[in-house]
Amino acid sequence: MSANRPAAVVVLAAGEGTRMKSATPKVLHAICGRSLVGHVVAASRELSPEHLVVVVGHAREQVTAHLAEIDAEVRTAVQHEQNGTGHAVRMGLEELSGSGVALDGTVIVVCGDTPLLTGATLERLASAHATDGNAVTVLTAEVPDSTGYGRIVRDAASGAVTAIVEHKDATDAQRAIREINSGVFAFDAQLLTDALGKVRTDNSQGEEYLTDVLGILREAGHRVGAAVAGDHREILGINNRVQLAEARRLLNERLLERAMLSGVTVVDPGTTWIDATVTFEPDALVHPGTQLLGATHLAAHSEVGPNSRLTDTTVGEGAVVSFTVADRAEVGAGAGVGPYAYLRPGSRLGAKSKAGTYVEMKNASLGEGSKVPHLSYVGDATIGDHTNIGAASVFVNYDGVNKHHTTIGSHCRTGADNMLVAPVTIGDGAYTAAGSVITKDVPPGSLAVARGQQRNIEGWVARKRPGSAAARAAESAHQDNQGDQ
Ligand code: UD1
Ligand code: CA
Repeated sequence: MSANRPAAVVVLAAGEGTRMKSATPKVLHAICGRSLVGHVVAASRELSPEHLVVVVGHAREQVTAHLAEIDAEVRTAVQHEQNGTGHAVRMGLEELSGSGVALDGTVIVVCGDTPLLTGATLERLASAHATDGNAVTVLTAEVPDSTGYGRIVRDAASGAVTAIVEHKDATDAQRAIREINSGVFAFDAQLLTDALGKVRTDNSQGEEYLTDVLGILREAGHRVGAAVAGDHREILGINNRVQLAEARRLLNERLLERAMLSGVTVVDPGTTWIDATVTFEPDALVHPGTQLLGATHLAAHSEVGPNSRLTDTTVGEGAVVSFTVADRAEVGAGAGVGPYAYLRPGSRLGAKSKAGTYVEMKNASLGEGSKVPHLSYVGDATIGDHTNIGAASVFVNYDGVNKHHTTIGSHCRTGADNMLVAPVTIGDGAYTAAGSVITKDVPPGSLAVARGQQRNIEGWVARKRPGSAAARAAESAHQDNQGDQ
């Protein structure tokens, strides 16, 4: 738990985000497996605040429903009209006081569209705020281009922060300032509440600016401080899809770096994309062109890629998965998947099993050491241990209305090109002949043959295709055979 546990974190997410040009509210756009606001909520959680309030406005039903899904403890406050960041924070605090919460201590304010902000930076802000005994501490950053941001105005002599001036309200001299307001603050709860009541709207946008609280507190004789972010990219706010892609790239780099430093080999970070929720064990190896999504986990010495997409999939120790798409699948230790396999939800591969080339599986389990090496569809099935499924087999699971299950025992050998028409059971140690259409259960240890008998019509080509190349080839084969005798 954080040493500087705040009384509350208030996340501002009421704005519309028109520049996204999207039917989806801005803060619900996702990078690296979480919505923008989801990243901010996750970073805020690292501070273990007593209360976490998200101020919603635009598309608030959608945003509220999403928040309930990702974090059951999040509260929402509604800001019906977007009258400015100060107004938004006021709505957040009123939500808390309205439900009987008396805030005492620190309130952290963050924006819902800054997905790169880390818990560690928030911790540093909270700790600087506490150590310096400030009424307010603003997180600032030096940026290459400060256009559009609020500028940090400091006293020439003491260097103390005196005000934040919005771009639209700034003089030319102020616009030249490179240090900007990140939009992230730590406040003393009581002083913030009092000051918000004094914020006016006599500015170019006619809004209640949160930034005006600094001047108000300073004039009342309170300490105003700043913490400078180590990396200005961390406070990147997303306004359009160019910035969305930029943030995704930066966050992906950060996640890959963390994975590599923990012992994962990433062959080509430039073409590897991972979600924030993916976990690894040391000596996992990721080949180029790979996406690892959701709750995917790679165990030690496992190998994934190239060109694979794994969603919510666990890959066991030493397993090898190549050129594969997998969704909610479990790959056992030492198993092999691909090249060119498609593991759909509910695919469970036992230790040292194999789903090989052009194999599709769905809701099917493969026991230890069992193999489906080539060109097969295995749907709705339970397969025991050390069984081999012949090439080009289809588990015929669907009769057009219902899905049915196939059960195959251990140590079975099904022939190539089998149709296993479910529901059907093949007992332990049974065999099936190549080309069989299995519609009836096969007892343990039996050989099932379910195909037409072969008959050869001698001399058919000579009679029906006289003079053809085939007939000549057959004729010469006959002569050779006679010569041999
Ligand atoms: C704000 C800051 C600016 C800072 C910049 C950092 C103010 C007055 N300005 O400017 O100093 O450099 O952020 O990105 O605070 N929001 C609401 N309700 C509102 C208005 C805004 O919830 O009524 C939310 C938005 O959804 C967004 C955040 O507050 O998440 C920031 O609002 P935005 O309009 O983007 O502020 P900026 O003009 O960028
Ligand atoms: Ca903004």
